Amino acid sequence: MKAIRFHEAGGPEVLQYEEVPVPEIGPGEVLVRVHAVGVNPPDWYLREGMKVMPAEMRPALEFPLIPGTDMSGVVEAVAPDVSGFTVGDEVFGMLRFPGFEGRTYAEYVAAPASDLAHKPAVIDHVQAAGAPMAVLTAWQYLIDLGHDVPSPFTGQVHQPVPITPGMTVLVNGAAGGVGHFALQLAKWKGAHVIAVASGRHEQFLHKLGADEIIDYTTTQAADVVSGVDLVIDTVGGPDSRRFLTVLKRGGTMLPVFFAQYDPKETARLGITVSNIQVRSNGPQLAEIARLFDEGKLQVGVDSTYSLSEAGSAHARAAQGHIQGKIVLTVVS
Ligand SMILES: NC(=O)c1ccc[n+]([C@@H]2O[C@H](COP(=O)([O-])OP(=O)(O)OC[C@H]3O[C@@H](n4cnc5c(N)ncnc54)[C@H](OP(=O)(O)O)[C@@H]3O)[C@@H](O)[C@H]2O)c1
Repeated sequence: MKAIRFHEAGGPEVLQYEEVPVPEIGPGEVLVRVHAVGVNPPDWYLREGMKVMPAEMRPALEFPLIPGTDMSGVVEAVAPDVSGFTVGDEVFGMLRFPGFEGRTYAEYVAAPASDLAHKPAVIDHVQAAGAPMAVLTAWQYLIDLGHDVPSPFTGQVHQPVPITPGMTVLVNGAAGGVGHFALQLAKWKGAHVIAVASGRHEQFLHKLGADEIIDYTTTQAADVVSGVDLVIDTVGGPDSRRFLTVLKRGGTMLPVFFAQYDPKETARLGITVSNIQVRSNGPQLAEIARLFDEGKLQVGVDSTYSLSEAGSAHARAAQGHIQGKIVLTVVS
C-alpha cells in the first residue's frame, strides 16, 4: 500500500509518499481501508520531532514513522475477538491517542475497535475524518471527560463543568478544529456563545450559531466582555492570562494548549483552571455521531489534499488561520 512516512524530523518536505506493507491486525483490531485522513496539530508536532514539548519530556522517536491519528474509512477485516463491527462498515476514529502509533496517513490502518465508531450517515468520509480529535477534545473538556487520567501538565483530573442553558461561554480560536466544535457543543447545551477569531471567519462562525463574535485583530475580549462563566482557550500562549478578567468570580478557564496562570492570581479572582489531554474513545464518538446525524453538529472543512500531497497540507497548516479541518483524501 501507499503511506506517508518520514525518516527524520523536519519541515513538511520530510513527508514522503512510499510503498509499505499493509498492516496486520492483532486482537481487538480491525483493518480499515482509509478513505480520508484528518490533519491535526500532533501530526506536525511529531514531524518536527516533538520540539513543542520541553526537552526533558520529549519522547525518543524511532524512524521511519507514519504520522496521523484521525481517519474515516471502510472495514476490510475484523479480528475474531471483535464484536460490533463487520466487513463493509463505514467507521471513523482517533487511533491510539495519546501516542504516536495511529499511523493513519496510509491506504490501510490496523485500528483498535475500541477507538472506532460507525461513521455518521449524513456526513461523508472527508468530514468524518476531520472530526475525531477536534470533537473529542471539545467533548472531553466540556461534556464528559470519559476517563480518570490526570492531565500530564497539572497532575489533576479534570471535571467538566456542566453547561446549562443561559450560561455564557467564550471560545478563543473559535474557527479552528477544536474551537468550532466547542462553539457548537456549547450552543447545543443552550449556552450564549462568544466566539473569538480573526474577522475572516465571521460568516462561518455565524453559521455555526455564535451569538457574538470578537475579531481579535481589532478588539481585545477583555475590553468588551466580562461576567463570562466559562472560557475555553484553544490558542494559549504566554499572554493567555488576559482572558482571566473576562470571567466572573467562580468561573472556569479551560486552556487547551500550554498556558501558564499564576495560582495566586486565579485564587484571588476565584477562577478554576483545568485542562486535559484528549484520549481515544470510540463509545464517545458513537454518542457524538448521533449529534451529527441529528444535524446538531457539522464539520468545517478548511481544505483537502490527496494523501500524496501531505506535505502541502502541512505547509497549509503552518500558514495558520485554519477554518475547521484540513483533510487528506485517500479514496476519491
Ligand atoms: N489538550 C489537548 O488534548 C489538545 C487536543 C487537541 C488540540 N490541542 C491543542 O489545541 C490547539 C488548537 O488545536 P486546533 O486543532 O483547534 O488548531 P487549529 O485548527 O489550527 O485552530 C487554531 C485556531 O486559532 C485561531 N487563532 C490563532 N491565533 C489566534 C489568536 N491570537 N486569537 C484567537 N484565535 C486565534 C486560528 O485562526 P484565526 O487566527 O484566523 O482566528 C485557528 O482557527 C493546538 O495547539 C493543539 O495542539 C490540545
